[in-house]
Amino acid sequence: MNPQERIAELTNRLNYYNHQYYQNSVSEVDDFTFDKLLAELTSLETQHPEFRQPDSPTARVGGTISKEFKTVYHRFPMLSLGNTYSEEDLVEFDKRVQKGLNGQSYEYICELKFDGVALSMTYENGVLVQGATRGDGVRGDDITNNIRTIRTVPLRIHKTDVPALFEVRGEGFMPLAEFERINKEREDIGEALLANPRNAASGTFKQQDSAAVAKRRLDCYLYSFLSDVEVFHTHEESLIALKEWGFNVSQTWRKCTDIREVMLYINEWDTKRFELPLNTDGIVIKVNRYDQQRDLGYTAKSPRWAIAFKYKALAASTTLNGIQYQVGRTGAVTPVALLTPVLLAGTIVKRASLHNSNEIERLGIQLHDTVFVEKGGEIIPKITGVDLNRRTEKSEPIIYPTTCPACGTPLIRKEGEAHFYCPNERGCPPQRQARFEHFIQRRAMNIESLGEGKIELLIDRGLVQTPADLYKLTTNDLLGIEKVFLDEETGKKRIVSFREKTVENILTAIDRSKAQPLPNVLFALGIRYVGNTTAEKLTDYFGSMDAIMNASPEALLAVPDTGPRIAESVVAWFADPENREYVEALRAAGLQFAGEKKVVEQEGDSLTGKTFLYTGTFENFSREELESRIEANGGRLLSGISKKLNYLIVGENAGPSKVEKARKLNVAMIGEDEFMAMLNV
Ligand code: IVH
Repeated sequence: MNPQERIAELTNRLNYYNHQYYQNSVSEVDDFTFDKLLAELTSLETQHPEFRQPDSPTARVGGTISKEFKTVYHRFPMLSLGNTYSEEDLVEFDKRVQKGLNGQSYEYICELKFDGVALSMTYENGVLVQGATRGDGVRGDDITNNIRTIRTVPLRIHKTDVPALFEVRGEGFMPLAEFERINKEREDIGEALLANPRNAASGTFKQQDSAAVAKRRLDCYLYSFLSDVEVFHTHEESLIALKEWGFNVSQTWRKCTDIREVMLYINEWDTKRFELPLNTDGIVIKVNRYDQQRDLGYTAKSPRWAIAFKYKALAASTTLNGIQYQVGRTGAVTPVALLTPVLLAGTIVKRASLHNSNEIERLGIQLHDTVFVEKGGEIIPKITGVDLNRRTEKSEPIIYPTTCPACGTPLIRKEGEAHFYCPNERGCPPQRQARFEHFIQRRAMNIESLGEGKIELLIDRGLVQTPADLYKLTTNDLLGIEKVFLDEETGKKRIVSFREKTVENILTAIDRSKAQPLPNVLFALGIRYVGNTTAEKLTDYFGSMDAIMNASPEALLAVPDTGPRIAESVVAWFADPENREYVEALRAAGLQFAGEKKVVEQEGDSLTGKTFLYTGTFENFSREELESRIEANGGRLLSGISKKLNYLIVGENAGPSKVEKARKLNVAMIGEDEFMAMLNV
């Protein structure tokens, strides 16, 4: 098969697997095979860019960085919808529709109102050619590369009977699970949390680096179809066809024959919507027939054939019984409201986040107040206000602690930060425990068999002071220890015990963790603002723990995507002698301190445009050094001898078959000295 055919085949196959996986939840290949095929396609496309298909799945991983988005005009304006919160208004809307249609019969399609960002996608000859934001309704930002990263958006439609040019519109959103995952990660490294899934989605779509967008798994539900030629007669037909063509259409819509059925739909989804994987804030009611939509027409801003019914944010009132101050891994203190249990949107709410002390002040709440809790766009219910009419003499001001509730150390507040911090990083029990939990997580050292209370027990027994002590544990230390934990919420007892098999598993996992690569080790240290991605970038740039540890702020700032905040945090962390001691203990335990330098500092450009391969050993360079010098001077390393190879660098004990092949293909062979002369430095 020639490269062109192979590229076409791989493109189709991978797109098919993607579709099966993301739309139909069927996994037809394992991840490894998928990644291998994708890597093959990526490499073929790099060699033969002329054969790259417009719907290549390699677009899904992003990689395009733009300075500014291009502005594009919408072929059809993107309108908004009239809103209502009341059933009376809906009845009024229905009357207007009835009147506007002069007594014809009509039907509605009800859909949920998804809470995200309106997107528009244009397909030409079945291929996605443009994706845009709503903007001001007339023109928006061209975010095609970002939209391509959404796995459920087809890059090509495999049906022959689709119009040559059409547009689909829908709501781009961040699934709740993804939002929680990202925030958990951000909390873990001390980053400010994303406010809610809608802002998170809109912020992500506006990022200039599509590879960063690809990392956040956004999704999109389609809800309208537009084209110059008449393809469908009803909205219902369009929803069914879009689904068939491979678009992601939420199957929550329903056809209703009158406004009474619409009300039933509204009531049904009032609480059921909380089971969905995304936030919804209402429903949208649309007249089904396109000819009737045309007859009804538009006002200046919105269609007369559709309306949005918004659910009132679900609220309940309850009593604030107390405040618990939680201390996180980075020492940040977060107040949590303890409430008299109350039913809200089908779940019992006992706790609500208060974010920080500013929030308590802003709300003006006092202990024993009657407060309003709401379930809005956020996942955790929040307190939105106080019922001052019900304040009694029992109520008392909340006195924010000045010392750590866990260890008694005076709290500090850094310039410009909303949180108070407990600075006792090592001694404060919740901080210490969270530090261990951070260390053992899968993305760090992957010793998760130590979770669920086991770490707590080891700390309790004084078996470990820092995570480095884990590497000294023996069977004798662990076997037989146990503790009964009392779950405060359920009142149930839980026994954590170290039996023979458990001990064996844990010790094996600890031992295996020594092979975790440097980015994981660096991340495991728990330096503020150093998440996985930053840890990888630092490793790629510096290549070893020692280089990172001793890097100057200027050197750190040269690392891609590393700003002063990260640089300062890294420098300050390694400047602390106790941290240094900890790092040395980890080194002694045998963790990976050497990594692979991937980003080379440019030394010169004397080798630009030339390709190299080497064989044998050299006096002045190790293999790694030779490779990095080639790259640092603009040259490219090839993996085998071919006509494309310009130079074979021949050292001591060179491989005879390589030399032979190079001779046959007339590839220039040079020695170490000649190579050094070419370097010109
Ligand atoms: S139809 C002309 N359907 O709500 C009507 N919109 O307030 C076009 N939205 O900008 C919109 N779910 O971002 C429609 N099922 C749905 C929707 C929906 C969410 C958003 C959309 C639109 C806004 C209108």
